[in-house]
Amino acid sequence: MFTVQDTGEGFSLEELRHVFDPLYRGEASRNRSTGGAGLGLTISQKNMKQHGGDLTAKNHDAGGALLTGWLP
Ligand SMILES: Nc1ncnc2c1ncn2[C@@H]1O[C@H](COP(=O)(O)OP(=O)(O)OP(=O)(O)O)[C@@H](O)[C@H]1O
Ligand SMILES: [Mg+2]
Repeated sequence: MFTVQDTGEGFSLEELRHVFDPLYRGEASRNRSTGGAGLGLTISQKNMKQHGGDLTAKNHDAGGALLTGWLP
């Protein structure tokens, strides 16, 4: 198992519901200046699932994003 966390604002409730949907980008990210296609987390989770594992997203206690991935 591995975790990746950051010190940003974390995911909103809306984002937590959709971050793994293809092409979904959160309200704050949805502009061209920041680039991004809304595929990073979708592809990452798909890779993990194809290897029999998974990737989940939530916020950690200090508020930032926390991604947890594991493989069998
Ligand atoms: N570390 C993070 N902290 C807060 N919100 C995030 C974080 N990473 C992703 N998100 C939210 O989840 C959405 C989907 O993330 P995802 O990585 O799939 O796409 P993206 O970062 O917008 O574009 P791409 O990864 O394709 O360059 C983002 O648009 C943003 O709203
Ligand atoms: Mg991304």
